[in-house]
Amino acid sequence: MRKQQPITELVFDGDNNIDPYGAVVPPVYQSSLFTFDSWESLEQAFADKENSVIYTRGNNPTVQFVEQKLASLAGGEKAKLFSSGMAAISAGIIHFLAQGDHLITLKNIYGPTATLIRNVLVAKMGVEVSYVSGECLNEIEQAIKPNTRLIYLESPSSVVFSLQDLEQISALAKKHNIATMIDNTWATPIYQKPLALGIDLEVHSCSKYLGGHSDIIAGALIARQSLIKDICLQEYELLGAKLAPVEASMLLRSLRTLPLRMERHQQSALRVAEFLQQQPQVAKVFYPGLPSFAQASLARQQMTGFSGLFSFKLNTDDLAKIKKFFNALILFQKGVSWGGHESLIYAPAISCSVEQTPEHMQRMGISYSDMRISIGLENAEDLIADLANALAKL
Ligand SMILES: Cc1ncc(COP(=O)(O)O)c(C=O)c1O
Repeated sequence: MRKQQPITELVFDGDNNIDPYGAVVPPVYQSSLFTFDSWESLEQAFADKENSVIYTRGNNPTVQFVEQKLASLAGGEKAKLFSSGMAAISAGIIHFLAQGDHLITLKNIYGPTATLIRNVLVAKMGVEVSYVSGECLNEIEQAIKPNTRLIYLESPSSVVFSLQDLEQISALAKKHNIATMIDNTWATPIYQKPLALGIDLEVHSCSKYLGGHSDIIAGALIARQSLIKDICLQEYELLGAKLAPVEASMLLRSLRTLPLRMERHQQSALRVAEFLQQQPQVAKVFYPGLPSFAQASLARQQMTGFSGLFSFKLNTDDLAKIKKFFNALILFQKGVSWGGHESLIYAPAISCSVEQTPEHMQRMGISYSDMRISIGLENAEDLIADLANALAKL
């Protein structure tokens, strides 16, 4: 039988064997524990704890059903859902590192991930860290030490959307017996398949495109079976950041339309990025889908499409003018996060200046003129009109 397209796999639940009535939507098993008919069946369940449904902090049938869908979509053997993207990131990173180990990561990773590394791994666990731009293999090779255990990537990275060559980096890491992990939230498994390029562990904030409607916070790890098993029995169960069954069910509903939404986000983002690129008030647009993007050929080599989040730099450092532009937007609502139905604008410097050290902000190259926008599902021409109106205030 021919390999099904992602949309077919996401819509079709004919393999739903968790509902005895043939319901088209799998039931929400809102139960904290599951009972057994004997000592022997309990013993049997504990012998396969990774898969058994015993207690919802470990496994739950509704959550497992969604995990299977997600693993299949990403081309991984197994997925594990968490209560947030940060819970998944924390469990994954902590899994690979112990006191005295060395980690290589990017200057431009998501802010709270950088804080986790600095405040928990470095300050409390005694892990060493090196920051690289990730754009050049040589730079990563030179950062490798005898105690390097993990290379943590995010491609495209936060704010500047720079890419890393996943195939080259994973080959280099394998040569040195180093694990690789990537935050693949931006591209989603629809447009980028890091596991097929040799990356060991893929992490997602499902609070963005996978959830898609700005109404759930969730996270996921996807990898080969043995790695997910080790994480399940240690960090997943012990840190306890499981996803609630009802939220897993909401995530499943969202996944059914993921390919359709991504297509629309991509189309509109390209239109808006092209518009912004031509405006005199805009100094630079950072969108991997633009032919003028600095790493456009790598973008096309390792991604099959692009999402709707990007940033641009205004042509002024005058904070009063920047605020005037920002506050004049109507359709672009002002707030954090991204990947939902609604368009959003945010200036990363607002939170970075509070949450990050001045050195980290400088390392990221962020200033108040950097605007990040998430293109939602509205009509692209309406969004452009809103931006044109606000740019006219500059
Ligand atoms: C790239 C990226 N990774 C991870 C996260 C964290 O996800 P969550 O908010 O679900 O914990 C975010 C959230 O904004 C993000 O932008």
